[in-house]
Amino acid sequence: MNLKAISPFLKTHAPKAHWLQYLESGDIKPYVYVRSENHILHPGSRHKLDWFPWRPIYIDPFNLDEIEFAEKIYHLENTAFGPSAMPIPRWVFYDCGVMPGFVAGFAMRTSQLSPAMCKAMNIREEGMGPRHEWTPLSLFIIIPTMKRGEWVAHNLCAVNSLLEEKDRFYALGFLSKAFGLWYANVKSCCGMTQWGNTALKLHSHYGHLQVLTAYTPVHSHAKTITYRSQVNVKSWESFFTRQEDIQFLEKYEPSGLMIDPLQENSMIDLHRRIQKGEGPYFLGAMDIASKKLTDSLVVYQSKG
Ligand SMILES: CC(C)(COP(=O)(O)OP(=O)(O)OC[C@H]1O[C@@H](n2cnc3c(N)ncnc32)[C@H](O)[C@@H]1OP(=O)(O)O)[C@@H](O)C(=O)NCCC(=O)NCCS
Repeated sequence: MNLKAISPFLKTHAPKAHWLQYLESGDIKPYVYVRSENHILHPGSRHKLDWFPWRPIYIDPFNLDEIEFAEKIYHLENTAFGPSAMPIPRWVFYDCGVMPGFVAGFAMRTSQLSPAMCKAMNIREEGMGPRHEWTPLSLFIIIPTMKRGEWVAHNLCAVNSLLEEKDRFYALGFLSKAFGLWYANVKSCCGMTQWGNTALKLHSHYGHLQVLTAYTPVHSHAKTITYRSQVNVKSWESFFTRQEDIQFLEKYEPSGLMIDPLQENSMIDLHRRIQKGEGPYFLGAMDIASKKLTDSLVVYQSKG
């Protein structure tokens, strides 16, 4: 048994995340899908945070008896990314995710899934044997890079994207990435997403988000932003509290540039500036939080 209480911060500031009660009861657990040689030596030792006191479930991708968990990951990922035409091919998941890195997220006891979740995850009665004890609700694939302390967030998705609003677990995607970054002691995290994607609402909270590429024709989607965050758990709280990040406002000011997610030219213009050595440029979590996905975003630069 591994029943630990939710952190006082989450208890107070995340009332919408009612599913956290299942972590307390043991019906949801964080999971780490990792081959044995990639285990993190001292998980959670870098960032001081009491959000994840629960021992994760470990699942070994090399274990033939655990293939069903991978099948559920594929189902979740392929269904979530289908609309953006980026479902992960199996060999990419294995060669580029599982071999160099690991996958983290939250899993729920299959027997406790709501009917809406069973439907979304394609769970049928006959699939509920002992090997199907846990169903992944989210996944975050993270890969180490050649730069010391720097990782790449390769993929993030949550079952929420397959559910109606009333059936969702608020902050599931946000806490899945938070768990992976905390667990692996990640100092610096790069990632890629498309302008206008919901995910920017999450990514901008893990540390000040620097724009590395604003336009990325080498990717399948040219309207991709590549970013880097120096992971700072202090700024994670603002996802829930919506409090302005004073440090961010002290360091950065609006540059006068905007990114319009519907205007490729605004991306190319910013990228050309970055290419010329201007910047560095950043996005603000509170600016993104206050906007609709199609609204223009303020581009910030260092003060003075
Ligand atoms: C992006 C994704 C991981 C977010 O996870 P999630 O569990 O749905 O989101 P969370 O509950 O953690 O975060 C909730 C925030 O996102 C917003 N959000 C979630 N879905 C949204 C949508 N479809 N449109 C607009 N905002 C949305 C919520 O409004 C909320 O913001 P708020 O607190 O200001 O209201 C998930 O939607 C997903 O799997 N999408 C498909 C795959 C994908 O595009 N992944 C991103 C790759 S970088």
